[in-house]
Amino acid sequence: MGLDETKDNPLDRLSAWLAADMDGVNALIRDRMASEHAPRIPEVTRHLVEAGGKRIRPMLTLAAARLFGYPGPFHVHLAATVEFIHTATLLHDDVVDESAQRRGRPTANLLWDNKSSVLVGDYLFARSFQLMTETGSLRVLGILSDAAATIAEGEVLQLSASQDLRTTEATYLRVIRGKTAALFSAATEVGGVIAGADEAHVRALFDYGDALGIAFQMTDDVLDYGGSAGSIGKNVGDDFRERKLTLPVIKAVALADEAERAFWTRVIARGDQRDGDLDAALAILARHRTLEATRAEAMDWAARARAAVLSLPPHEGREMLADLADFVVERIR
Ligand code: IPE
Ligand code: IPE
Ligand code: MG
Ligand code: MG
Repeated sequence: MGLDETKDNPLDRLSAWLAADMDGVNALIRDRMASEHAPRIPEVTRHLVEAGGKRIRPMLTLAAARLFGYPGPFHVHLAATVEFIHTATLLHDDVVDESAQRRGRPTANLLWDNKSSVLVGDYLFARSFQLMTETGSLRVLGILSDAAATIAEGEVLQLSASQDLRTTEATYLRVIRGKTAALFSAATEVGGVIAGADEAHVRALFDYGDALGIAFQMTDDVLDYGGSAGSIGKNVGDDFRERKLTLPVIKAVALADEAERAFWTRVIARGDQRDGDLDAALAILARHRTLEATRAEAMDWAARARAAVLSLPPHEGREMLADLADFVVERIR
């Protein structure tokens, strides 16, 4: 497990550092996505798992445990649990968002159907719970089951807030903290807990994951308008089509003149979207520079994440996690 300083992308540096552990995680995922009686389960799961994915969340768990000298083996189970939960939520999320592309491939809901995605997602959720019980730690069970509930809550809150032009930045923060940051913070927290880190350090790991997840999702919401499908592996404009009030739009609605207000009312509140509307929306976001403003907020959260992780004892892995905070905002995929 050598540290490779030649790679400057923190995700690659983390992968190199944690390669042996990640092999264990991937083996566990392959093993536990099997099903004796329902071949549809590994077919759908393999389609998504083998498409790759950045594997940020499991690496967070492994890194957090290694920072505190944990020798194993249960950080691997916890990392696999976290990636299983993530995979289950992606299957469900693409049904809810009616998305057609994920990790550069057609989504499972498109290739199979919504029923398969929902049920296989449920199966993976259940498998993730089986996996974490193997650690024997009630505390990590509590953290991860709380996170699973919070993710679902965030997705439902977003559902009720979508199409509603009165959605505030505070509501948006609650949504993303739930649907995305809860798994990041649980991932880092359980790594510290399994390693027996001090409570103050566990708290700092939680704060790091929370701020990192918020920065990550704000950036994702910028990429949904400002990225390219080729790099993000998802269709650009999904949030617009789904009439979601993400931060770039919330900020633009707040700054809208009368004509813009009428536009947002038509396309988001009423859902009357026509050819050219996505480009028109992009022009309004550009006029008010709200993608830049959202990115600036993401950078603030990245700075908080960096500060939280740098409060931990010195370690080479700690520097990678600090750099990862800046990287998630700069990322293009
Ligand atoms: C996608 O997460 C879901 C969001 C929280 C935006 P990732 O961007 O980490 O997805 P993969 O695992 O790398 O595909
Ligand atoms: C990501 O939601 C959070 C979860 C999957 C729970 P999004 O809907 O914003 O993410 P993408 O854009 O589909 O990856
Ligand atoms: Mg989605
Ligand atoms: Mg969604």
